[in-house]
Amino acid sequence: MRIDVLTIFPDYLAPLELSLPGKARAKGLLDLHVHDLRHWTTDKHHTTDDTPYGGGAGMVMKPEPWGAAFDELDIDGATVVFTTPSGAPFTQEMARELAGRERIVFACGRYEGIDQRVIDHARTRADVREISIGDYVLNGGEVAALAITEAVVRLIPGFMGNPESLAEESHEDGLLEYPVFTKPASWRDLDVPPVLLSGDHGKIAAWRHDQALRRTAERRPDLLHASQAISAGDLDDLDVRPATRGDAGEILTLQRACWMQEAQANPGVEIPALGESLDVVRASLDDWVMHVVRHRGRLVAACRGRLEGDVWDIGRLMVAPDLQGRGLGRWLLSYAESLASTQATSYSLFTGAGSVENLKMYKKAGYRLRGEQPGIPGAVLLTKRRIF
Ligand SMILES: C[S@@+](CC[C@H](N)C(=O)[O-])C[C@H]1O[C@@H](n2cnc3c(N)ncnc32)[C@H](O)[C@@H]1O
Repeated sequence: MRIDVLTIFPDYLAPLELSLPGKARAKGLLDLHVHDLRHWTTDKHHTTDDTPYGGGAGMVMKPEPWGAAFDELDIDGATVVFTTPSGAPFTQEMARELAGRERIVFACGRYEGIDQRVIDHARTRADVREISIGDYVLNGGEVAALAITEAVVRLIPGFMGNPESLAEESHEDGLLEYPVFTKPASWRDLDVPPVLLSGDHGKIAAWRHDQALRRTAERRPDLLHASQAISAGDLDDLDVRPATRGDAGEILTLQRACWMQEAQANPGVEIPALGESLDVVRASLDDWVMHVVRHRGRLVAACRGRLEGDVWDIGRLMVAPDLQGRGLGRWLLSYAESLASTQATSYSLFTGAGSVENLKMYKKAGYRLRGEQPGIPGAVLLTKRRIF
């Protein structure tokens, strides 16, 4: 990647020699050039500003030096970033996008900003981005160019020794990062959370996800879509109740979304839940004990059961696809078991033979594989003894 920075204070960009950008340059991943805009002025005072048309306080950066600099630096086809408090807020997503560019030219404003025609002209030659690094006003665009460069450069493919460390950072998955700890395990009477010393990677991942959610909800609720705030730890917020006919439409929608995944995991297998009509779903509510789970009004999960002899037959365990992997499925399974009538001595359910994640969860919950589910090729039956 090549980066050019245009500024009237080139010394301000000296830190680009250090730390990450410095390393990227040493590795040959970054070709960086800082230019003094005054080089493209024509008067003996190297003037880059003038009074604003229409009057008002302050000075405005003149267009001519910018135009000459753009011509000499040949900005055609590049991405030109104008740093400005009235630009789009800089985000990690933007950093990722810019990290894929071959050439970025930063135009650092000063005074009251740059003559608008400079930006309009650049737009005819390059991909122009007007970017703000926050809702406050700096004296010049250099600090913004430094911040954007640092965020972008660390994402250039091949730059980070361990790319996994990038994946878990704040903002990468829309959440803030969980708290991190290092040795010693105990310091000034403050202990590292025991789960991190447990060696149980599943538990550690669940704890970290939960912490990231909590931290985001507390500090940056604006980042969190309401539905994302659900995890098995937030079950108090869930509204669980018997399904009514009025729920049928949403159940059908959730059912199709969930079993579409099953169809992908079990190619060629005919899946009854996927083909049912609204009338069938509605009628099934008379034959089954079905419960629905809502979070702030949204239908996020459901399950049903009915007694077959002395077996509590569990079915239609579904969690909205965007909320899976947070422990809701495991909780829902034990909830479905709790609905069993007193005569039931065991539970049964079936799933696709290729539904690896479901099978893992059922086995973990004590279910044993009993072979093919009669009448549904490609599906397998699982059962579990009821413990009173
Ligand atoms: C004093 S500011 C000009 C502010 C301008 N009069 C306004 O109200 O939008 C001078 C320069 O600093 C830079 N700058 C200031 N705040 C910034 C921010 N939050 N993000 C990016 N650049 C900023 C821009 O390059 C801007 O042209």
